Amino acid sequence: MTSIIKVNDLHKTYDMEEDVQVVALAGVSLEIEEGSLVTTMGPSGSGKSTLMHIVGGLDRPSSGTVRVGHYNVADLDEQQMAIFRRQMVGFIFQSFNLIATMTALENVALPLRLSGVAKNERLQRAYELLCKVGLEDRIYHKPTQLSGGEQQRIAIARALANDPPVILADEPTGNLDTASGENVMEMLKELNENGRTIMIVTHDPRMTKYADRVIKMLDGSIQ
Ligand SMILES: Nc1ncnc2c1ncn2[C@@H]1O[C@H](COP(=O)(O)OP(=O)(O)O)[C@@H](O)[C@H]1O
Ligand SMILES: [Mg+2]
Repeated sequence: MTSIIKVNDLHKTYDMEEDVQVVALAGVSLEIEEGSLVTTMGPSGSGKSTLMHIVGGLDRPSSGTVRVGHYNVADLDEQQMAIFRRQMVGFIFQSFNLIATMTALENVALPLRLSGVAKNERLQRAYELLCKVGLEDRIYHKPTQLSGGEQQRIAIARALANDPPVILADEPTGNLDTASGENVMEMLKELNENGRTIMIVTHDPRMTKYADRVIKMLDGSIQ
């Protein structure tokens, strides 16, 4: 087995007011095989998002190591971290996190702009990605003019813009009706079948049918 993600003894503690600490991760070790689809389940507050954020370079651990591909994520400086995020991971969030003032096309093209891709090329690629998620007739719509399911498909297209090998999705179906949620999961499954490694945080036990493996978390630890 080739692991694309390797987490070793990860701790994350938040210092609150004096003498008060919140332990979000209490020593998590984990390997994720390249090309697998893994779901992470567990009650609210068990550390699922914290783990995903640290794996994706959105947050830093208090201690422990994280390797994703050939990156030692916890050791990167801010600039290297930005490059890591751009090259290696696509994020999908429960609340979509689209930019309200931008069209679907501009939202999907944004990561390409940050990567320095020329305008014509990035708009062309964004259009192709929106076609891929079935939104070719919504490219000039803004997020508020779209349904939740459509917004999440835009977020999926955006996550694919730089063609990352890893997709991290934090409760991607949490704000969607059942049919749209199934649609999003089918899309993530298809991306996985095309070779991407996918880690999905979910509350929904129905989603486990898509998973090669289910990771259960409780109180900052893997069960
Ligand atoms: N920025 C933060 N500051 C303080 N505590 C936090 C912060 N982020 C998360 N936590 C705490 O860490 C624990 C794990 O949170 P989180 O990873 O968001 O859990 P989950 O995604 O499983 O619901 C919770 O107790 C939460 O309150
Ligand atoms: Mg969470």
